Amino acid sequence: MPCAGSGSRSGAQLPKQYMPVAGQPLIAHTLQALMQVQGVEAISVVIAPADQLFGSYAPAGFQGIVTPTGGKTRAESVRAGLSALRAHGAADQDWVLVHDAARCLILPEWVQMLIDACKDDDVGGLLAQPVPDTLKQGHDGHSVATVSRQDKWLAQTPQMFRIGLLERALDDAEARGLEVTDEASAVEALGFKPRLVACSADNFKLTYPQDFERAEAIFHMRRFKKSGLHTGA
Ligand code: CTP
Ligand code: MG
Repeated sequence: MPCAGSGSRSGAQLPKQYMPVAGQPLIAHTLQALMQVQGVEAISVVIAPADQLFGSYAPAGFQGIVTPTGGKTRAESVRAGLSALRAHGAADQDWVLVHDAARCLILPEWVQMLIDACKDDDVGGLLAQPVPDTLKQGHDGHSVATVSRQDKWLAQTPQMFRIGLLERALDDAEARGLEVTDEASAVEALGFKPRLVACSADNFKLTYPQDFERAEAIFHMRRFKKSGLHTGA
């Protein structure tokens, strides 16, 4: 789990992964969900070298590998996490799921859906949302063309690949100077076709200030539904 960013677009005082959402730090929601996924053998959380906060913000019962060698880019942080998993015995063919700390609305069942869809796949895949709206090509703040939304997806995480392939893909992309904003883009650059697994728009990445309110509302809705109050039960 890359957790080494500064959250510059969030406008928050703290790195966004430590901001409170629905009564808990964002990172605690994310980790609690992943800790419930069956079959996850180890969780590696990559934090920034100067991070003093993770220890006090991790959820109770968290026993993962904390890797304090996050890099300047997300891809560098992910690479550091893969090295940590290797140091703990991960083998070439082991599956790894990379998940943004900032996607705190992830549900264990969505991760399970990804695992079920990819576990027999040669390459792996990612959660993603089919683009629902009409897409515009912009220029200088004006719409200059309408782009077909057919076959367009918004990439989410987790993204699931065999660790050997993913390391090779990230190293190759770095050597070629490619900009890598998710794992799938590096794997695609090697000529592979990651599987797209449709997921909810609620699996969004908290990026801007208004995203925190939206996440808060979804957490409250989930609690309300769980309480049974909406059915009068
Ligand atoms: N991340 C990371 N190392 C980096 C940059 C990002 O581990 N050098 C992590 C973030 O902590 C986050 C995830 O990658 O969980 C997705 O990145 P993003 O949403 O861009 O987070 P930030 O880079 O922190 O935010 P911003 O781009 O607004 O500064
Ligand atoms: Mg960023």
